Amino acid sequence: MMQARSDRMRRQFKTIVFVPTMGFLHEGHLSLVREGKKHGDDMVVSIFINPAQFAPGEDLESYPRNLEKDLELLQKEDVDAVFIPDDKEIYGNKFQTYVDLEKLPNHLCGISRPIFFKGVATVVAKLFNMVKPHVTVFGQKDYQQLVIIRQMVRDLDFDIEVVGAPTEREPDGLAMSSRNNYLTPEQRISALSLYKSLQKAQALVESGMQDTNKIIDAATELIQSHSGTEIDYIAICDTETLADIKTIDKPVVMALAVKVGKARLIDNMILNP
Ligand code: PAJ
Repeated sequence: MMQARSDRMRRQFKTIVFVPTMGFLHEGHLSLVREGKKHGDDMVVSIFINPAQFAPGEDLESYPRNLEKDLELLQKEDVDAVFIPDDKEIYGNKFQTYVDLEKLPNHLCGISRPIFFKGVATVVAKLFNMVKPHVTVFGQKDYQQLVIIRQMVRDLDFDIEVVGAPTEREPDGLAMSSRNNYLTPEQRISALSLYKSLQKAQALVESGMQDTNKIIDAATELIQSHSGTEIDYIAICDTETLADIKTIDKPVVMALAVKVGKARLIDNMILNP
């Protein structure tokens, strides 16, 4: 059905742009749609909470949903099609073929979420084959995901241009996320420590600090001074391989994941020496 629509669009020489999401849309998602519109003239957004990227005990069941509001927001953005497959459409028919990258998932979020990127790469590959886009837009908010999708597109020869879009933030700097919905007002204050620690790191780098251990220590201290935070990881990595870096002598990515109450939050920033 989706494929037939895409074939029709392609016969009309439309440029299909695709933004995959898990719904509960916010300005971050909508910024991808707006960016995407610059790259083509048929905008498709998918909403699918992908069970394959949630481990047992993670928040698959409680992941926030509001389809009615999502559709309203997408209508306002004048999106051409919204694709809302069900689990059977994606994983029915005795599904057994997965996309699993060899190296990039062995860093950052992939360490504490070992099946996550296998689930992401698999569903995105399937969605690409269903939507047949010319262009796709992913957020830099999920930096590792963006790098992994770029790698998968190269490795498997998907004929798709991958566009990365900057992170949308709340006025105080908190990166927008569907999971911010889990935060109590008190936790919302502690959640800001992620962004604050990235800003602090950037300031340290600008003042000449190159030793990543020292920068990570400073970030750790700042986050731990906020109540109810539990650090999963703080890392400073190569922007392409995601390998840990000891001394900063070129732009690097600092990425972190912190649990605040029920919410596992992530953020990142490129640090420029
Ligand atoms: P989801 O978390 O809904 O995010 C969908 C897209 O929105 C991703 O490309 C993500 O990087 C982007 N995004 C989220 N918050 C953002 C923000 N504050 N600013 C800019 N972009 C933001 O990521 C997923 O869904 C899933 O893993 C998916 C790719 C759909 C596969 O299931």
